[in-house]
Amino acid sequence: PLDSKTPAAAYDFVVVANRLPVNRVSDDDGATSWQRAPGGLVTALAPVMESADGAWVGWAGATDEELEPFENGGISMVPVPLTESDVNLYYEGFSNSTLWPLYHDVIVAPEYHRTWWDSYRKVNQRFADAAAAAAAEGATVWVQDYQLQLVPKMLREARPDLKIGFFNHIPFPSVDLFAQLPWRKRVLEGLLGADLIGFQRPGDAANFLRSVRRILGVTVRGQQVHVQDADGNPERIARAEAHPISIDTESITRLANDPKTQERAKEIRRGLGNPDVVVLGVDRLDYTKGIRHRLKAFSELLDDGRLEVGGATLVQIASPSRERVGEYMKLRDEIELTVGRINGEHDTVAHTAVRYLHHSYPFEEMVALFQAADVMLVTALRDGMNLVAKEYIAAHTDNKGALVLSEFTGAADQLKHAYQVNPHDIADLKDTIVEAINAPDAEASRRMRIMRRQIVTNDVARWSRKFLESLAKSDADISADARH
Ligand code: G6P
Repeated sequence: PLDSKTPAAAYDFVVVANRLPVNRVSDDDGATSWQRAPGGLVTALAPVMESADGAWVGWAGATDEELEPFENGGISMVPVPLTESDVNLYYEGFSNSTLWPLYHDVIVAPEYHRTWWDSYRKVNQRFADAAAAAAAEGATVWVQDYQLQLVPKMLREARPDLKIGFFNHIPFPSVDLFAQLPWRKRVLEGLLGADLIGFQRPGDAANFLRSVRRILGVTVRGQQVHVQDADGNPERIARAEAHPISIDTESITRLANDPKTQERAKEIRRGLGNPDVVVLGVDRLDYTKGIRHRLKAFSELLDDGRLEVGGATLVQIASPSRERVGEYMKLRDEIELTVGRINGEHDTVAHTAVRYLHHSYPFEEMVALFQAADVMLVTALRDGMNLVAKEYIAAHTDNKGALVLSEFTGAADQLKHAYQVNPHDIADLKDTIVEAINAPDAEASRRMRIMRRQIVTNDVARWSRKFLESLAKSDADISADARH
C-alpha cells in the first residue's frame, strides 16, 4: 500500500525483470558482494536510473533467500525471492519449458501444465507487488520479457497512476502457434495492462496484434489496441511497437581498441596452432541457436575436403544455460557426442577440428575471441534479436571479418550486409561459410563498414531512449499519431 512506504522507497523509474543485473561474487574469506552483470540492458539503463532515481526489481538468482534491498553502482536493487518450487514451476517450467519453446516456433514441443501456470501467476503477482511498493506516484515502470507477461495488468490494477511499459526480448509467435496456449487470453490481457508493448521486430508486433484481434476480439487500429473495461466500455489505448534492441557499441569499441585485447586475440590464434581461418560460434547452449546445424555444415565441409583441419578451426563457445531443464540436458549430450565424433574423425595430433568450450567467459575475453575470428557463425533457428552478431561487428574496428547470419534472427532485419542464410538449408549454409571464408578483403570490409555504421548509430542507449520517449507520449500525441 502506498502510505506504508518510506519516501526513500518511492522511485520515479522502476525496471522489473526476472533477474537483477548483478552477480554474486565471494572473496577468499567467503564474504559475498555484488558485481554488475555484463549486458546491454543494464548498461543502457544505468544512466537513466542514476538521473531519475531508479530501482530494479528482480530475482538475485539463488533459491529460498530473503534479501534486503541494496545499492549497486548507483542502482537500487529490490530483490524478489523465489523458492525452490517457484524456480521449478515458474522459471524452469512455465517460462522455459512452455513459453520459451512456444515463442520460438515450437523448435521443441512446449509442455502445458496447470501447476506451472498457477506458479507463473503467483510469482508474477509477487513481482507486481514489489514494483507497486517501489514506484512513486506517477512513476514509469518498465517490465521486461516473457517471464513477466502478467505483471503489466496486475500492476495497473494496484496502481492506475503509473506509466507502464513492457518489452518482449524474444520473438512473439504467429497466432496459429500462440493459440495453443491454454491461458492465451490471460497472457494477452496481462500484456495489455501496459501503455506500450515493445517487440524486437515489426513482425513480432504484428503477430501480437493479430492474436489480440483474433483471440480477444478487441478492436485494433494500426498499432493501437482499444482496451475495454470489464463492462465492455472503452477504457484506454495500449500500443504495440517494434523497438529492436542493440548493444553498448562504444564500450566494445573501447575494449577492441585496447592493445591488450589485440595481443590476446593473437595469442588465441597462436594457441589454436595459427590456422589460416578461425571460425567462431558463441551461444548460450540452447536449442534455438542452431548449433547442431552449424556443426553438421562444418563437418561436411571437412568430409568433402572443402576445408581441412589445421587450415580451418571452428571454435564453439557454448555457455551453460538452464541446466536442469530436460531439453537442455538432452541438447548438451547431443552436441558433445557430435563434437566428439567430428574431432575423433578429423583431428590430427597437432590440430583440432572443433574446439568446444562449455564455459562462459569475461567480456574482455569475448571481445578478443571475436577479434580472433575470421568468420562468425550465427545460425539460430529463431532468435528475438541475437546480440552476439552485433558484438562481433563492434569488436572488428579493423573492418576485417565476415558474419554469417541466420534470416531467423531479429538482427537480420538490420544487418542486411551479413552473409544471410537459412540454417535449415545445410547445402546453402556450407556454400555460404565457404563464400564468407573466401571473401575478397575489399568486399568483406565494405560489408563490415556498412554494418558497423548501423550499430554505431543504433546502440542500446538509443533503443532505451526511443522506447521511453514513446512510452511518455500523452493521450493527445497518441490520438494525433492515429490521425496521421
Ligand atoms: C534470453 C532472455 C532473457 C534471459 C536470458 C538468459 O536472452 O530473453 O530474459 O535472461 O536469455 O537466460 P536465463 O534463463 O539464464 O535468465
